[in-house]
Amino acid sequence: MSKNAISNSVIRRLPRYYRFLGELEKKGCVRISSRELSEKMGLTASQIRQDLNCFGGFGQQGYGYNVKELRGVIGNILGVKMNTPTILLGAGNLGKAIATIDFCKRGFNLIGIFDVNPELTGKTIGNLEIRNTTELESFCEEYKPIAAVLCIPKASAPETAERLISYGIRAFWNFSHYDLSITHNNVIVENVHLGDSLLTLSYGLNSLEYDSEE
Ligand code: NAI
Repeated sequence: MSKNAISNSVIRRLPRYYRFLGELEKKGCVRISSRELSEKMGLTASQIRQDLNCFGGFGQQGYGYNVKELRGVIGNILGVKMNTPTILLGAGNLGKAIATIDFCKRGFNLIGIFDVNPELTGKTIGNLEIRNTTELESFCEEYKPIAAVLCIPKASAPETAERLISYGIRAFWNFSHYDLSITHNNVIVENVHLGDSLLTLSYGLNSLEYDSEE
């Protein structure tokens, strides 16, 4: 089955499968049944079978899934070997934390960090020096980054994104509190709001309390 035929909700679950299978592989697990995987992941076995069937008959009756093979297929679909050149904008509290994520393991190669604040120029995060945004255009011309991580204030996000698109950026991992919805062809956006995740937790707690009052 082609990548395009996989539904969005399955795609959203793939990183979690990939992570769990990686942990199993590290522990030396060679194969796993959909029942065992479902117990570990908190999904139903039939959901797992349905999801993984999308990638073509991996599970075998009485055998389960070959952990390494399945992880390899999911990794290829996710593009973990793409090594996409990536830059990060905004070297503040959030940017510093995000820059320490292992990008390489997830298909990205962080090659540059930029900030408008000249006082940050030359300071380092990991093994990368913070550059001033005045260098952005020439850097993009030379190193041709494809993805950008936005850890900048909401107000700067739309204009910065447009500028970056004109420099060749085609993918945004957007943490600014501005929901980018880019209309350019071939530009993709992943908006991330940790606050939304916290609200989901709050909803869970609220429902528990609501249930116990009944
Ligand atoms: P911060 O104030 O510590 O850092 C922001 C940095 O961005 C500063 O160093 C500033 O000089 C730089 N900057 C401003 N405009 C820029 C531009 N056009 N290009 C490059 N650099 C620029 O703020 P913090 O805590 O790091 O948060 C950054 C943004 O992320 C804020 O807008 C905040 O609301 C948002 N945020 C989003 C979260 C999420 O889950 N999506 C979580 C936490 C913060």
